[in-house]
Amino acid sequence: MRQGGSGAGQEFSGYTAVAVFLHWLMVALLTAQYALGWTMPEIHRGTQPETLINLHLSVGALILFVLLCRLLWRLTHPAPPPPAGLPGWQNLISALVHWLLYALLVIVPVLGWMNASARGWTVTLFSAVPLPSLVADGSPLGRSSGDVHVALSYVLLAAAGLHVVAALYHRFLLRDDVMRRMLPGK
Ligand code: HEM
Ligand code: HEM
Repeated sequence: MRQGGSGAGQEFSGYTAVAVFLHWLMVALLTAQYALGWTMPEIHRGTQPETLINLHLSVGALILFVLLCRLLWRLTHPAPPPPAGLPGWQNLISALVHWLLYALLVIVPVLGWMNASARGWTVTLFSAVPLPSLVADGSPLGRSSGDVHVALSYVLLAAAGLHVVAALYHRFLLRDDVMRRMLPGK
């Protein structure tokens, strides 16, 4: 399905305004989330969540919520077709990295939420909406999910880094339309 406009005689199709908004909102939330993850106090057995930790939990829950909206939108509004002329292997790798990013954006927050539940913490959306516990207080599975949460957050960072390098490669070396597809006000 084609989306977006195409100028006079110019073949161009980009993502919908909603997809673009959700993409850049996610980039902003992830930036805040890593900043919080790296600056919040070290968590030990018995640590009580204070401001920065609580913010990490709330922003994480918001990331999960925005991601669900984004996936719903994506499944009902397919991506524009790949720009003409790119080799098939590049389109394949690009699609694989995009779906890896989506998968990690679900898995990483869920593992963090499981770890918070195992610590007996209630995850709330900005102290307003309490969310259910995913595992019981003290659950061994929930305890070990903390380490996997941290490890996979670095895999997510690496995949996002690769994705950004690819976007810049299209913009500054190939000078094609790929970056423009995801920019507001195309
Ligand atoms: C995509 C979203 C998320 C990212 C990128 C992220 C990233 C991080 C990072 C970088 C750390 C600290 C790593 C370190 O100690 O060096 C961390 C720790 C932690 N995060 Fe997240 N986080 C996310 C979502 C969440 C959510 C939704 C929750 C809970 C609702 C959560 C709960 C925790 C907990 C409990 C820890 C401490 C884990 C431990 O030290 O055992 N995170 N996270
Ligand atoms: C400065 C940072 C970023 C830039 C310049 C950027 C750029 C882009 C561009 C140009 C596209 C469209 C690619 C195409 O049309 O084939 C795209 C799609 C996408 N981006 Fe980013 N991105 C950035 C950061 C991120 C981050 C941090 C994430 C998540 C971790 C992310 C996740 C995605 C996903 C999942 C898609 C695929 C959309 C879909 O087809 O459903 N991006 N990005």
